[in-house]
Amino acid sequence: MLKKYLTCKKRIEHSISTCREMVRFAPKFSLNKNHAKIAGLYHDLARDLDADKILKFAEKFEYKPDKYELEYKTLLHGAASCYLLKKEKIGNDKIYNAVLKHTIPEKKMTMMEKLLYVIDFAEPKRNYPEAKIAYDLLSKDLDHALFYVVKTVIGYLLDENNMIHPRSIELYDEMILKGGYHGKIDY
Ligand SMILES: [Fe+2]
Ligand SMILES: [Fe+2]
Repeated sequence: MLKKYLTCKKRIEHSISTCREMVRFAPKFSLNKNHAKIAGLYHDLARDLDADKILKFAEKFEYKPDKYELEYKTLLHGAASCYLLKKEKIGNDKIYNAVLKHTIPEKKMTMMEKLLYVIDFAEPKRNYPEAKIAYDLLSKDLDHALFYVVKTVIGYLLDENNMIHPRSIELYDEMILKGGYHGKIDY
């Protein structure tokens, strides 16, 4: 199924690695291993499609893109991947929500949604040094790993003068206010 939609070899390897780590960590967070496996393997299913097709498929999933997502249509590859999964009769709402939110995280997320967001960034095929830091944090504390990934991704976006989606900022602010991450932390 991966090869039916993904054309980039690196993306296929990333999907398999994400799947492997989702299955590895699922028991630690009392998650259904099969759901974790499907979410990991297929979260980027629509990622290699062109932007207009991604938008079309996201809309077919009845997802309503906002102005930020319409400007950066690749942000919609989560919603478009959900459409492909539904078309292939694979998955359920828990899986779709994890796949949906892996592109833009938000304040209210389930364990499965948090785990996919973190592992997508931290799986061992990722070759930036922050991936290893996030992976090590994940072994200790999912929320701390989530905080680290959110703030690191926001940092990357700021460095490139890119927009930050308001849902990511809301999540970051909430973790600062309620998560106890305020102040300097050495990683
Ligand atoms: Fe993705
Ligand atoms: Fe991914």
